[in-house]
Amino acid sequence: MTNPTARLALATCAALPDLDSDDAPLREALRSRGVEADVVVWDDPTVDWSTYAHVVIRSTWDYTDRPVQFADWTRRVERTSQLHNPADVVTWNIDKTYLRDLERIGVPIVPTIWLDPERNFDSRAIHTRFPAFGDFVIKPTVSAGSRDTGRYAADETPSRSLAITHAKNLLGVGRRVMLQRYLRQVDTVGETALVYVDGVFSHSVRKGALLDGPFRAGETEGVLYRREVMEPREATEAERTVADGVVAALPQVLPQLDGPLLYTRIDLIPDDEGNPVLLELELTEPSLFFQHGPGSAERFADAVAARF
Ligand SMILES: Nc1ncnc2c1ncn2[C@@H]1O[C@H](COP(=O)(O)OP(=O)(O)O)[C@@H](O)[C@H]1O
Ligand SMILES: [Mg+2]
Repeated sequence: MTNPTARLALATCAALPDLDSDDAPLREALRSRGVEADVVVWDDPTVDWSTYAHVVIRSTWDYTDRPVQFADWTRRVERTSQLHNPADVVTWNIDKTYLRDLERIGVPIVPTIWLDPERNFDSRAIHTRFPAFGDFVIKPTVSAGSRDTGRYAADETPSRSLAITHAKNLLGVGRRVMLQRYLRQVDTVGETALVYVDGVFSHSVRKGALLDGPFRAGETEGVLYRREVMEPREATEAERTVADGVVAALPQVLPQLDGPLLYTRIDLIPDDEGNPVLLELELTEPSLFFQHGPGSAERFADAVAARF
């Protein structure tokens, strides 16, 4: 049911018509500030987005199969409403090739080999790009929730074959592929997600390692995301330095920005020397882990309310 007085829409996907449970504290915090919000499915054709002054993207996780349609939707919404984060930002952030832009300006990223579908790589060409030893990861540049992502062992022939098949299948349907060494410290140290609200550090969480083996077709079909194990964690000074640097650098890669973004999530993992490197910059539809950051839902709701 839409509420005729609501001027804020929280955008979700059809599979989560009531948002993800991660956002429950946010709805409560908005309500207590007198901000009425509707939860609206982004690709529902019956929605009149112009009735909302502001649209905040939350759990629109099924867009990865339809990135062009999703980008079009952000532009459409922006014609009549303020979208958070803005369409330009989202369009840039949907495809992980944004990591190249950040690397160019000095951000330490997970070392990546990029395979473009236009290059028509044959099996051999893919194979020669694999590392000689250790584990490695194959994933598409447009993805979320670890979908279509697999981990392979360089010194096991069957695993390399599966990796070639995985890469070829992605490339065959026109998807760009990322090839990375599996950074092993993620198994012990985990991944750290740092959340910023209005460009100001809010809280951080630890996410356990997620990849245990090859991608298996069908395994993630209809699954929105791999189960994640989260707990609060204070970011280290080194992590803060990298993440603060990314936030500060955003105007260099997005010159059209005219102020801080409502939300920024920065996912870091340690490289083999233990230095934090950027795995992902989430400006589109990140879980913000409000349950794990005391006061974070309130800070976010304040930032939303201040925009009205
Ligand atoms: N190079 C890597 N080394 C170790 N783990 C990785 C690597 N790439 C991905 N992973 C694991 O896979 C998960 C999903 O990959 P990620 O790049 O965050 O894509 P997304 O979350 O958009 O699906 C990560 O949270 C991490 O656990
Ligand atoms: Mg991720």
